[in-house]
Amino acid sequence: MSVLKEKKILLGITAGIAAYKTASLVRLFIKLGAEVKVIMTPASKDFITPLTLSTLSKNPVHSTFYKKEAENEMWNNHVDLGLWADYMVIAPATANTLSKMANGTCDNLLLATYLSSKCPVYFAPAMDLDMYLHPSTKESLEKLQNFGNNLIPATSGELASGLVGEGRMAEPQDIVSFIENDILSKLPLKGKKVLITAGPTYEAIDPVRFIGNHSSGKMGFAIANAAANLGAEVYLISGPSNQQIKHSLVHRIDVVSAEEMYTAAHTYFKDVDIAVLSAAVADYKPQNIASQKIKKTAASLDILLTPTKDILASLGKIKKHQFLVGFALETNNELENAKGKLKRKNLDAIVLNSLQDKGAGFATDTNKITIIDKELNEKPFDLKSKEEVAVDIMNEIVKRIS
Ligand code: CTP
Repeated sequence: MSVLKEKKILLGITAGIAAYKTASLVRLFIKLGAEVKVIMTPASKDFITPLTLSTLSKNPVHSTFYKKEAENEMWNNHVDLGLWADYMVIAPATANTLSKMANGTCDNLLLATYLSSKCPVYFAPAMDLDMYLHPSTKESLEKLQNFGNNLIPATSGELASGLVGEGRMAEPQDIVSFIENDILSKLPLKGKKVLITAGPTYEAIDPVRFIGNHSSGKMGFAIANAAANLGAEVYLISGPSNQQIKHSLVHRIDVVSAEEMYTAAHTYFKDVDIAVLSAAVADYKPQNIASQKIKKTAASLDILLTPTKDILASLGKIKKHQFLVGFALETNNELENAKGKLKRKNLDAIVLNSLQDKGAGFATDTNKITIIDKELNEKPFDLKSKEEVAVDIMNEIVKRIS
């Protein structure tokens, strides 16, 4: 999955011959699942039509501060466009536009939007080789990078003038790869390893029966996905669950019983930076597992249960650099019980869900949590989808480890 999936990209096109390549660029962004809006400088329309770009981007193309629509004059709000975008990409960026960007000139919609945008900006210069080499262009490129904008370097090759040299806009696929790699390298959990436990455990009674619970695994899988989206390498240890996950950074380890989950968790824990234990581990297991299916001969049947190992507490005992997070599912005295678990199990934070809250807990698609950290700060969140809750949890962890 691309880091650009579901991201909002504002593509600014200026008047260079390479503008014809932006049709492919828009298609590539869309193919990766991004949403694209296009702003063109008025002169760039001589190189590619707004109709082509609005058709490919499935959005109207903006190029002036206002347009006549029926009898009403409509103002194109450059501030709104700038705030809408997760990323702004200016390609091709001519020497003229680069110079104006570097000096705060805003005599067209694209420049005004650039000046008011708050998101990361990428720019791909395109011009003739002597223009590219001119000290004023070099100064613009340097200034823009000092502003924090990202230069996608021009390449060498045959230019529109017939001259051969540096100044060709990077190819659309290379622009996309440059942006993806840059985003990946800046993710807050890049280079970090995260262990997640998820789902229920099944404790065998005999070869066909077990003691289990209703945990779906949804919360843990969502946390694994959220951590991977922040760049972490994730080890997801899952009890029996129908959940699926497709992310190149998530390694799934399937287990069945609490004992298997304990062994797997201890195998990975020493190498991780963060561990989030969201599994609903059985607290008890049958003391003896019948080797044959138990027949219904007796009028009643007693199964002697013995405690399972507490995985979270055992990791709390051996933790060194790891940031360890547990879950607490409570029905009463929620905050007090959760804080007790946080201390007892030597955690860095605990995620509390109360069964008193509608929409929180096991078999739902939503959850309502309070995160309590080691200093006993409490941070309550609204009822949200489990995917959103997972993002909140990972963001709170990132804040505390950096
Ligand atoms: N947990 C675990 N191993 C167990 C039991 C629980 O790792 N054998 C973890 C869960 O994944 C969760 C946390 O411990 O992160 C809280 O589990 P919970 O069952 O609510 O806590 P307990 O300490 O078992 O307390 P109680 O059941 O009495 O509320």
